[in-house]
Amino acid sequence: MASDFHPANRGVAAHWDGATTRAWADAHELIDRRFVALTRSLFAAAAPKSGERALDIGCGAGTTLLVLARAVAPGGRAVGLDISARQCAVADARIAAESVGGASTLVADLSIHDFGATRFDLAFSRFGVMFFADPVAAFAKLRAAMAPGGRLCFGVFRAADLNPWATRMGDAVRDLVAPPPPSSSPPGTGQFSWADPARVRTILGDAGWHDVSLDPLDVAIPIVGPEGIDEALDFALNFSPLARAMASAPLESKVPVVAAMRAWLDGVKRERGGALPAALWIVRARR
Ligand SMILES: C[S@@+](CC[C@H](N)C(=O)[O-])C[C@H]1O[C@@H](n2cnc3c(N)ncnc32)[C@H](O)[C@@H]1O
Repeated sequence: MASDFHPANRGVAAHWDGATTRAWADAHELIDRRFVALTRSLFAAAAPKSGERALDIGCGAGTTLLVLARAVAPGGRAVGLDISARQCAVADARIAAESVGGASTLVADLSIHDFGATRFDLAFSRFGVMFFADPVAAFAKLRAAMAPGGRLCFGVFRAADLNPWATRMGDAVRDLVAPPPPSSSPPGTGQFSWADPARVRTILGDAGWHDVSLDPLDVAIPIVGPEGIDEALDFALNFSPLARAMASAPLESKVPVVAAMRAWLDGVKRERGGALPAALWIVRARR
């Protein structure tokens, strides 16, 4: 457990350890299969090099941490920081299972963590920066831990309407499920909270970062991949606002939802070749 939290981030660890979000840890393969192309683009932009000290912010189940660790070898180190002990435990198990040297995790709230004398050459994140209640505090803390010339590179989503891969799943069954209970992540945070480029520039500028750039990345997300409809259904039911709605729904109401979702996924496969668009910003800055 992280011993301390920024006051506004109390509850965030519980949120990310909780029933409706822990699929990010327990079923990371489902999301990783869909994020292959965008992850490749993020790493091309971050350009980790051997010997570097790298930080993976909000590392989750460790998929990108493992990539980072391999990229900075030999001689480098990759630290995955996450507020959720559950996510870090999965990452730790994968580091051990794959015998990846130079990788470790840290359960901590980035907003208040004191890195001491540790310095990083690269701070990277795949969707791990959108949930800080006080993002300026978090990015100022991070900047203080960067070596001179240190690079920041992370991916965040652009607007919801540009990301049908994420928003359409809920639409497909809207009439069949009660609206999901409100997310327990802090106000002003969430999947699309970094969509406004002016806000991104203000946060990073106020936190002291320089040379801030935002590059759009448009990719197709394979909602129904080669693994087939059952796997896609598993993804849809675990990784969407639907997961929150379904968690509290009575059993009998789940049956028609699953049937409707299956029909919708069939349609995506038939009409769209199984893929839907996603839109990101690749954000870069220098210390
Ligand atoms: C959408 S998940 C992304 C996980 C991972 N980067 C990936 O791409 O699979 C967001 C992650 O950010 C972490 N997170 C949220 N607030 C945090 C904070 N204040 N400090 C550190 N990690 C945080 C969550 O626990 C969660 O694992």
